[in-house]
Amino acid sequence: MDSSVSRDAGITRDAGITMEKIVSLAKRRGFVFQSSEIYGGQSGAWDYGPMGIELKNRIQRFWWKEMTQLHDDIVGLDAAILMHPRVWEASGHVENFTDPLVDCKKCKQRFRADQIDQAKLAKKECPECGGELTDTRKFNLMFKTNIGPVDDGTGLIYLRPETAQGIYVNYKNILQSNRMKLPFGIAQVGKAFRNEIVTKNFIFRTCEFEQMEMQYFVKPGEDEKFFDYWRGQRWAYYEKLGVRMDKLRWHQHGKDELAHYAKDAYDIEYEFPMGFKELEGVHNRSNYDLTRHQEFSGKDLQYIDQDNGNERYIPFIVETSAGLTRQLLMVLCDAYEEQKVGDKGNEDDWRTVLHFHPELAPVTVAVLPLMKKDGLAELAQDIRQGLKQEFSTDYDQGGAIGRRYRRQDEVGTPFCVTVDYQTKEDGTVTVRFRDSMEQIRVKREELELTLKKAIKEYKRV
Ligand code: GAP
Repeated sequence: MDSSVSRDAGITRDAGITMEKIVSLAKRRGFVFQSSEIYGGQSGAWDYGPMGIELKNRIQRFWWKEMTQLHDDIVGLDAAILMHPRVWEASGHVENFTDPLVDCKKCKQRFRADQIDQAKLAKKECPECGGELTDTRKFNLMFKTNIGPVDDGTGLIYLRPETAQGIYVNYKNILQSNRMKLPFGIAQVGKAFRNEIVTKNFIFRTCEFEQMEMQYFVKPGEDEKFFDYWRGQRWAYYEKLGVRMDKLRWHQHGKDELAHYAKDAYDIEYEFPMGFKELEGVHNRSNYDLTRHQEFSGKDLQYIDQDNGNERYIPFIVETSAGLTRQLLMVLCDAYEEQKVGDKGNEDDWRTVLHFHPELAPVTVAVLPLMKKDGLAELAQDIRQGLKQEFSTDYDQGGAIGRRYRRQDEVGTPFCVTVDYQTKEDGTVTVRFRDSMEQIRVKREELELTLKKAIKEYKRV
């Protein structure tokens, strides 16, 4: 048992949850599995199980609704992962998307030069074994592959390291086909790939991951105003997502941290079990991207401002760039709690509960017959059938009712509906609320409305 555990201190057992606990729960309950596990695992890659894919889809939908449905001036896109290799020359990734690396000549370990003890680096001393380190060299993070039948280098192609470039190369298509006017945005969700050397901390930093990015095109000179606006919008998004806001903070990039394209950048950081780490970036990318694509493609990417005497200019871009898979990890960590719920002096006194916002929970409502017999199972199945169109449901008839509640708590199901003998008599069911464990009795006909109201009014306690 770890040292932060205290059974007497209050209702929460674990003040500082560990990544080990999150990884273990994620595997045990079907959220996230190691990729190719039966072959010993593939580092930098993870698979999302039945609960994980539901959670990921819901986070994605939440973000998509926020960005497109709730912002009239943002449209969506789904660009291909494989793009013309010149895109990555224009974007600066071929030249600049590198990590500084050093290798130990003795133990053969590889390190990011900027992440090890700088005094040891200066002495070329390995932080692990004390052996001699190589000189620092630049390592490009883009995965290369080959397109076409011949593997002689002429078909060199990259797996995209960010979704943003797919938006920039389609900027003119969308401008024209959708008759957009500045300012406007394009949103996209999709896979990105980076040959990350350090991939520890579960799904925090992986080689294959998903991003949710939005690029907002503005008139030069209006970029700072919209940069501030989007910082405000992104902060408000996390409030709606129902996470603990005292776990979030801003970090402004210093001059030496700014990416090659950025004029200004702020990260929203979350306090993960390993400390405050980047969750999402809001970047003022200036007119760097479109200027470069205009130069490299030879196509005119200027905007013609018909409202201002056909003035021509290259728009500035404000970007909001979030990791979907990293956000899933944040939501899991934020939801996790071990709570004291009894006084018997054994493990049954404790429950592990995930306090997901009901709109994110993989299962919204579980229907549980008190007994399998006397027609209760059939009645419960029938009630579940009636809820299916509106909610994601589960059905569980195995074991004591208390254990079944615990199983649902552990995957974050916000509502359990229990069907008992009284249901047969008067048509009422019990609704049990995950966070408060409070139970109320409602008529079967009022169930759907009761649940919808509870979802709408949900506030984490
Ligand atoms: N288009 C800008 C861009 O890609 P970034 O800061 O490199 O900016 C944006 O990445 C977000 O993508 C990060 O805040 C993080 O959430 C996510 N991300 C980046 N690299 C990742 C990785 N290796 N594994 C998981 N998520 C990653």
